[in-house]
Amino acid sequence: MLTLRPYAPADLDALYAICLQTADAGKDATALHNDPQLVGHIYSAPYGVLEPGNVFVAEDDEGVAGYVVGTYDTSAFIDRLEHEWWPALRQRYAGAAGLTAADQQRVDSIMKPGHPPADLVASYPAHIHMNLLPRLRGQRVGTRLLDLWIAQAKANGVSGIHLGASASNTGGIAFWTRSGFTPWRKEPGVVWFGMRL
Ligand SMILES: CC(C)(COP(=O)(O)OP(=O)(O)OC[C@H]1O[C@@H](n2cnc3c(N)ncnc32)[C@H](O)[C@@H]1OP(=O)(O)O)[C@@H](O)C(=O)NCCC(=O)NCCS
Repeated sequence: MLTLRPYAPADLDALYAICLQTADAGKDATALHNDPQLVGHIYSAPYGVLEPGNVFVAEDDEGVAGYVVGTYDTSAFIDRLEHEWWPALRQRYAGAAGLTAADQQRVDSIMKPGHPPADLVASYPAHIHMNLLPRLRGQRVGTRLLDLWIAQAKANGVSGIHLGASASNTGGIAFWTRSGFTPWRKEPGVVWFGMRL
């Protein structure tokens, strides 16, 4: 039995776990990391903690296995992260030892986050991330989660959504294209997409 539902605080561990298991351009990144939380610190957990109303999860009999997270106002969210999210993580990871190369890359992003292009954000102020574990893929669960997110965003007056997909994530790129997003710009390693609501 599959349920799509709003996020609850008890889902935070699942946000971290799913993020790690999809972080290598859609594939499992567990083997790349010594610290299993680093990717989620950046791409999933802050949304659950700071914007829980904009997170939906997909849960089957084995547990939560997919999510869509996001924010309506990317610029405001970036400011919020600077004040409420990154400081504690920067303290925690300053001088951290025993990191893999992939861990170090994520620590670098925590210390100095990259941002989406300003003109993309100006045109499409909201952004999302979506990830499903393999057992839920290819059954239109992603489409249904996206529909939920978009319906709520539209009801709240959001004018457009952007997202970045890893350039090597052919499945993800096919999904976003098929779901109404338009490729906006390619940068090294990433394809930016936008969709007007
Ligand atoms: C990408 C993802 C969110 C798509 O969700 P999903 O539930 O598997 O996709 P859906 O079943 O709703 O697919 C909708 C359409 O997208 C396309 N699509 C989805 N996944 C695809 C894939 N791997 N390859 C090619 N096309 C794909 C199909 O055309 C499909 O239409 P169809 O059912 O008429 O064939 C999910 O597969 C996933 O989480 N993958 C791993 C993590 C990831 O890559 N996240 C995106 C990061 S940018």
